[in-house]
Amino acid sequence: MATLRDEVMINGMRLRNRIAMPALTTNYGSPEGMVTDEIVQFYKERSKDVGLVIVEASAVRADGRIVRGSLGLWEDGQVDGMARLADSIKELGAAAVVQLNHAGARGFPSGGEMQGASPSGFAFRHDVAPLTMSLIQIERMVADFAYAAGLAAEAGFDGVEIHGAHLYLISQFLSPLTNQRNDRYGGAARARATFALEVVRAARERLGRSYPILFRFNAVEKVEGGQTLEDALTVSRLLADEGVDALDVSLVASSSWNQVGGQRFLATSSILPKEQPAGANVALAAAVKEATGLPVIAVGKLGEGDVAGKSVRDLPIDIVAIGRQMITDPDAAGKIFSGKSSAIVRCEECMTCYATIVRGKPMACKVNRNLPGTPHSA
Ligand SMILES: Cc1cc2nc3c(=O)[nH]c(=O)nc-3n(C[C@H](O)[C@H](O)[C@H](O)COP(=O)(O)O)c2cc1C
Repeated sequence: MATLRDEVMINGMRLRNRIAMPALTTNYGSPEGMVTDEIVQFYKERSKDVGLVIVEASAVRADGRIVRGSLGLWEDGQVDGMARLADSIKELGAAAVVQLNHAGARGFPSGGEMQGASPSGFAFRHDVAPLTMSLIQIERMVADFAYAAGLAAEAGFDGVEIHGAHLYLISQFLSPLTNQRNDRYGGAARARATFALEVVRAARERLGRSYPILFRFNAVEKVEGGQTLEDALTVSRLLADEGVDALDVSLVASSSWNQVGGQRFLATSSILPKEQPAGANVALAAAVKEATGLPVIAVGKLGEGDVAGKSVRDLPIDIVAIGRQMITDPDAAGKIFSGKSSAIVRCEECMTCYATIVRGKPMACKVNRNLPGTPHSA
């Protein structure tokens, strides 16, 4: 029976305990995708108690950023800043992993050659025209992921997490809603996983067998035509066979359609709606664990009550990730470990954090007024 305090190993990477901070886009990076003092400060404050910090989605190409201030790992000049960030996390005893992403057609309009990259031309934004990728473009994108993985290792990160969730580019390939290709990249779940598997393979070739590679994906997509748990389990087995070292199990928790200029655009969220209980996703991660035997990370309001403790104690969950509650209270994990959960400054689930970055502003929080994104009155 595991406890949150127990160590856990992921392909040689030692986590001192079983609480992780998941990837959280802050929009605190520079417009060139560089690490800033603000971003280092944000992560430092949150690295002292957790076992693992997964640094926010970092773009493998300039045209793959979620927001203008997303971090980048597309050129050598970004390594020094990333090394400073990795060091500041590791100095505090947490393992440091960076998430690698291309936002595809969900990215902000950056004007790059692969802006709007997508498997089948599904539009997510009125200001980004989707680009149906050619086979050559897919091949180049796989190489871009591998190059970024190499830069992450050079910067001293303990591991990388490939972002295959939340309907960004890799996830768009995995989802039947957004992938209608007729070539070897489309079709049944197994074929839709081809792009993801090629990315993992290329990263593995670059990084070697002993470097930890995590993969985040949607266990379900709560949108009509989205990926089912059954398909996700097929994908998880393929990822395990490909040599991924841990699976970070997320989801598309809700979706809605926005009408702009006579066209409909899909808006999805990875966040459990307010009315859903803490830990509603944990069973999904347990199903992935059962299907693959790999270490799994569960997420979804796990900073509340004793859900985190119960997940590792009563269920086959290896690691619990606490997101928004770590934004609101950087000491949340520390308070859980010292039996002072009731002293955690509560996240109100108001989604100011998400709303600010979507509007292109640095992340702010209604409760925690000490974030760089907080507007200060003069
Ligand atoms: C402001 C914000 C930014 C996020 N950015 C990312 C990201 O860059 N990559 C990612 O995989 N998930 C991202 N997520 C999702 C979180 O990692 C996490 O799955 C989600 O917040 C649910 O966990 P929680 O209920 O503990 O907050 C983000 C969530 C929020 C609120």
